[in-house]
Amino acid sequence: MSESFTIAVDGPAAAGKGTISKAVAAHYGFGHLDTGLLYRAVGAKMMEGTAAAEAARNLTPEDLARDDLRGPEVAQAASKVAVIAEVRAALVDFQRAFARRAGGAVLDGRDIGTVICPYAQVKLFVTASAEVRARRRFLELTSAGKVVSLEDVLADVKARDERDMNRAEAPLKPAADAVLIDTSELSIDEALAAALTVIEARRQAVPQS
Ligand code: CDP
Repeated sequence: MSESFTIAVDGPAAAGKGTISKAVAAHYGFGHLDTGLLYRAVGAKMMEGTAAAEAARNLTPEDLARDDLRGPEVAQAASKVAVIAEVRAALVDFQRAFARRAGGAVLDGRDIGTVICPYAQVKLFVTASAEVRARRRFLELTSAGKVVSLEDVLADVKARDERDMNRAEAPLKPAADAVLIDTSELSIDEALAAALTVIEARRQAVPQS
């Protein structure tokens, strides 16, 4: 397939969007953009004293390649800068250009199906209970050597969900035409299979060139 085909994957913190998106992109040979990384990079720069909007306008590939973006402090900073309209606006063009790349793209985030790519051929909304999401993130962080408590991770997840869902700009919510995948009781393979079933149905339905 040489024309663009866009898959939007949205959902709350630590729902498994990244894992599913990476696997889907690898399956089809599509590009994958973790849009949370853009907000995390801006959040990290804000923690260092740069004004958030300025940081968003001047993000570099090096900013996105930093190895300190995955922790809970940066995640909180990301969700704080993500409420700022100027920050979101500065990141739109990059995300849309990525979405339209020839050969197909998977973008995961909070507002991909609703704001960034409302035209996406496939929209998934990946979710799970807050407890399941916190446990998964806890295991991810501790296996990467971070010292965190499950309680703190759960509190972080809930605080970000609250802020992400209730902000005025591009709040986290499923697009009207998104397909919901609740991964609370699913293994990674089962969640991926559910996503591929939806995508295959859309690929049959959407004419391809
Ligand atoms: O990986 P996780 O789901 O924990 O978070 P993330 O996707 O890296 O996103 C970090 C934060 O960036 C979120 O809590 C949101 O506040 C913000 N974000 C956003 O507002 N819009 C996006 N498209 C992606 C992330």
